[in-house]
Amino acid sequence: MPCVDTPAPRFAWTLNADGRNRRQTAYQIRVWPDGAAHDDPTRLFWDSGMVESSETLEIPYSGLPLPPASTFVWTVRVRDESDIVHGWAEPALFRTALDSWGAVWIRHNPLVAPSTRPSDDASYPAELLDREEPSPYMRREFQVDSEISRATLYVTARGLVEVQVNGQRVGDNLLDPGWTDYHKRIEYQAHDVTAYVRNGPNAIGAILGTGWYAGHVGFDHEHPSAWYGHSPELLCEVRIEHADGRTTIVTSDGSWRATRNGPIRYSDLLHGERIDARYGLGGWSKPNFDDTDWSPVLVSETPEVPIIVPARAQPIRVTAQLKPISVTQQASDTFTFDLGQNMVGWVRLAVQGPRGTRLELRFAEMLDRDGSIYTANLRSARAQDTFVLAGTNEIEVFEPHFTFHGFRYVEVRGEIDPLLPENLTGLVVSSDTPQTGSFTCSDEMVNQLQRNIEWGQRGNFISVPTDCPQRDERLGWLGDAQIFLPTASLNMDIDAFVSKWGDDVLDAQSPSGAYSDVAPRIVASTDGAPAWADAGVIVPWTHYRRYGDLRMLRRHWPHMERYLAYIERENPKLLWSREGMDDYGDWLSVDEHTPPEVIATAYWAHDASIMAQAADVLGNTERKIAYQDLYGRISKAFNDAYVDDDGRIRGNTQTGYVLALAFGVLPAEKRAKAAAHLVENIEDRGWHLATGFLGAGHLCPVLTESGYPDVAHRLLLQDTYPSWGYSIRHGATTIWERWDGWTKHAGFQTPEMNSFNHYSLGAIGAWLFEYVGGIRQGQDEFTYENVLIAPVPGDLAYARTTYRSVRGTFVSDWVQADSRFTLKVDVPPNTRATLTIPAGSGPLLEGGSSAQDAAGVTSVQRDEQFWTTKITSGHYEFQALGVQPARGPKF
Ligand code: BGC
Repeated sequence: MPCVDTPAPRFAWTLNADGRNRRQTAYQIRVWPDGAAHDDPTRLFWDSGMVESSETLEIPYSGLPLPPASTFVWTVRVRDESDIVHGWAEPALFRTALDSWGAVWIRHNPLVAPSTRPSDDASYPAELLDREEPSPYMRREFQVDSEISRATLYVTARGLVEVQVNGQRVGDNLLDPGWTDYHKRIEYQAHDVTAYVRNGPNAIGAILGTGWYAGHVGFDHEHPSAWYGHSPELLCEVRIEHADGRTTIVTSDGSWRATRNGPIRYSDLLHGERIDARYGLGGWSKPNFDDTDWSPVLVSETPEVPIIVPARAQPIRVTAQLKPISVTQQASDTFTFDLGQNMVGWVRLAVQGPRGTRLELRFAEMLDRDGSIYTANLRSARAQDTFVLAGTNEIEVFEPHFTFHGFRYVEVRGEIDPLLPENLTGLVVSSDTPQTGSFTCSDEMVNQLQRNIEWGQRGNFISVPTDCPQRDERLGWLGDAQIFLPTASLNMDIDAFVSKWGDDVLDAQSPSGAYSDVAPRIVASTDGAPAWADAGVIVPWTHYRRYGDLRMLRRHWPHMERYLAYIERENPKLLWSREGMDDYGDWLSVDEHTPPEVIATAYWAHDASIMAQAADVLGNTERKIAYQDLYGRISKAFNDAYVDDDGRIRGNTQTGYVLALAFGVLPAEKRAKAAAHLVENIEDRGWHLATGFLGAGHLCPVLTESGYPDVAHRLLLQDTYPSWGYSIRHGATTIWERWDGWTKHAGFQTPEMNSFNHYSLGAIGAWLFEYVGGIRQGQDEFTYENVLIAPVPGDLAYARTTYRSVRGTFVSDWVQADSRFTLKVDVPPNTRATLTIPAGSGPLLEGGSSAQDAAGVTSVQRDEQFWTTKITSGHYEFQALGVQPARGPKF
């Protein structure tokens, strides 16, 4: 259930309807407190009445003031184009944020040492004891003395937290409260715990982990860990609403007791977790537990966090489970499990054995030549879990709490016989963003590419969008994010996820106006890097175009303005030269070096053009004109300095041409020439790409828009090095960081930087949806009211693409066979589409008859190559006859 901290939450809905040209002409929203009836007018907080409007997005609440810490229900009904008022939608819940906390932050008293080794194990390895930093367990009991109507737990931590009430784990969220810059902002979760709390004695308990707050993150080995603090802390309160109208509150305070003698002996996001079941605490989170040997907690003296906000994005959860596809025995006590998929999360191990049996688990993405796990690329991340059995004569189930790993292979070492595939389960962990898109086509390698992109997304969307999930890094690199988010936002609904990360980006902005390299900002303290910092402008704009989120755009706008002012101050000549400053260039390109000033200046022009469009959307004509002017001046400077009359761009690299074309900085007369140079370059390389992160995402769209869809398709289907297909041909199940992460000719790239789960090069995914499938927005069309469905089929026999947009689901499902091109589309109510369908010698039919006469079709035109058809909402089946397959001579 969303928890909102604004007086005017926004409402949105999508419409389903049979038939064509279906429209909403008016809506009515009602909001009432949970528990009341929606048709009881005395309890309504808001009844909008029938509002004449076709809008379905961003409708702000404007009823009675919403009290804090309360649960509300809302619903909507609509009137359609025939004046029929439809029934109320299934009601949905939301809650309002706490207005203030009665609770205080508490932590374990560091002067109370945990016991050193289990009493029955004198041989417990000294090197493990050195690393012990056991998780604090905290508890208190409370009495409820009258009937409960609702109980809500509000909880957060400096670190990570899991809560139990009366012996039961609350909810299924993992790694709460996620990662923010804890000095500036912390999120909290609200859980309905009505079913957990009872009339009578109760107990609440919390386990804390170090997590991003006090554990290892990133790669700065000089830094001992603990970017934000040294010891995790808890803040929580349970608000109990009684049937008699009273509210009682149980909070974190000095009355809690704590121990570090529980089973989690060590946990760290990068290094792993050690659980020793011999330290089992029994019913520690139940009432009447004897906690006399626990010690009183300390009330924290850590300075208050300026902002504590309800969690906005979906929580991190287990989103899938994988069973091993094979197990190989490496030695008498060592087994390697293959989960068949490079995944992110951890494993659950269910085993039985004698007390004190120790199982060591190590995780790896790849195998070395001798079949052993390849861990060199994890750098300093130990990625190791240890489970010690209590020997209960029953199956013991182990699962870590406060770590995660990126892996396909798990090596388990220990005296357990036998160790079978059924003992182990891979738990896939990710921010639980709902799937919104799907793409499948006739080429299995391309389908694997799409799966690899999705797995890369799943594994790297854990509270923030990260570069990689396995080595000592896992940072929210801005460059990676701006490149991949257009793809990510088609695959999944990342509206809330990005809106939250957007605040991390703002929190990380420098006083100079420069955006940072990573957000939250740690490790890489630099900022203002071209294409990385530019994410501060690109991301809110991409987000607006996908989700119509004006509020986010407005929040970011003044920051975006400061950034543009910063670049101009640093580069008064309108060429963005980065001498002596941070610059990642076209990161990880192969055999080509694009001059950094070409990349930077093109990106600056792109920023200016986005600013002009955003100003327009925000109704700021003066700034729109100013940024249009800036865009023109930067483009001119770019052309004067870097482009010759023949359209050749300094460096003559693929990425140079791609960015200049994608960002529209070339005058019309040079565009075709530049595109021809790009294609020449690709051809000279035997139809291979050479781009790094920056070029890879724009390459295929630019080729397609420049009249070379065949070349784009050729790169898509290429499977010799370097190409997307090369890694797939060699077994990749995720997108690799580098084209040459592993090659037949050179083996593994340097372990210094070689992730096999990096999403950036997966940015081609947007082209699959928007060009091969063809569902996209025109340049001046926003938020999916009026879309293009213009498939670029290339040599594929079919492709089926679906996208659940903020206005409903679009489908493009095409087949080319037997001289006909068939396109089935779905266009949701309230929207319309322009279709481009390959034309042949025959007519265009819809549902077997002339398309011209079909209901819902508003126009049909053709030129030499295409039918262009405008349609209203509904399901359609078009057939263009006499079409030769797109297989062209260039293949
Ligand atoms: C990360 C990248 C990031 C880059 C910056 C690397 O270590 O893994 O994905 O964008 O640094 O150049």
